[in-house]
Amino acid sequence: MISVITGASSGIGAAAAAGLSRRGHRVVLVGRDRRRLDEVAGGLPGPKADVLTCDYTSLDDVRALADRLAERYERIAVLANNAGVMSTERKVTPDGHELMVQVNHLAPFVLTRALTGRVDRVVTTSSRAGRTGRLDPSDLSRERRRWNGWLQYGDTKQANALFTVALAARGVAATCFHPGVIRTGFASGSLLMRIFLAMPGYAKPPEHGARSLVHLATHADGAERAGRYFAGMAPRRVPAAMADPALAERLWEASLAAVGVNGTVP
Ligand SMILES: NC(=O)c1ccc[n+]([C@@H]2O[C@H](COP(=O)([O-])OP(=O)(O)OC[C@H]3O[C@@H](n4cnc5c(N)ncnc54)[C@H](OP(=O)(O)O)[C@@H]3O)[C@@H](O)[C@H]2O)c1
Repeated sequence: MISVITGASSGIGAAAAAGLSRRGHRVVLVGRDRRRLDEVAGGLPGPKADVLTCDYTSLDDVRALADRLAERYERIAVLANNAGVMSTERKVTPDGHELMVQVNHLAPFVLTRALTGRVDRVVTTSSRAGRTGRLDPSDLSRERRRWNGWLQYGDTKQANALFTVALAARGVAATCFHPGVIRTGFASGSLLMRIFLAMPGYAKPPEHGARSLVHLATHADGAERAGRYFAGMAPRRVPAAMADPALAERLWEASLAAVGVNGTVP
């Protein structure tokens, strides 16, 4: 059973890789740094892992990743869209998109659409931060509106939930989840994150964050609760802006226009 995990070089992705490997999945670890991916692969308890590098700041690199996965694997049991970034500084990728919207939403949008026909489940690492998202499909990079790191990050994690809704509407077994506040390298430039990490017992270890991913990858919930947002092992109510099918479709169309290519899902 093949499971592809993006953002597998550290944190929640590396812990989820161990959890799925322990359950007998052959995991495909995706990240930017070959050396760190090899280290994660070497420490897995189960079947030998495969390793692929990809930098999400290049959509061509994401398309090449999709091609390599399609060449190697006829079927993929789980695609875990986990790679993500939170930046306190506004950056623009060579493709012309704000960094977080490209890495957290547009890149997984490209990868997932390219692989949908051969993937049984899609599990996306969203965040409670999506609850504060004010996503505007006509301004994904916040060029017209006020930008700050948490505003943009919230939009992208709202986008993860809406993409999950849109995939489910197309018959894909897609779910997403909030991992909790987890002690990783995530948002290291943010004062808020540093405060969370300094509060004794507040931030949990990566294995805690990986639990929902492993649950949705292996339990019936991941197939039967398509479109839903989980925290812990249970689906949760979310604000309308994270579940609105019409907004999800507007985001889909805007994302198609932003990435500028045809995929396999209409
Ligand atoms: N930690 C938390 O409290 C928390 C809370 C809610 C949601 N999340 C979400 O959880 C997910 C995993 O984060 P984490 O906490 O495990 O942090 P992490 O340890 O920093 O892991 C992030 C992963 O994303 C990858 N990534 C970042 N930029 C990339 C790029 N340009 N191209 C390809 N891969 C890239 C990283 O690869 P490199 O190693 O190459 O940088 C790394 O493997 C993210 O989607 C994050 O938004 C985290």
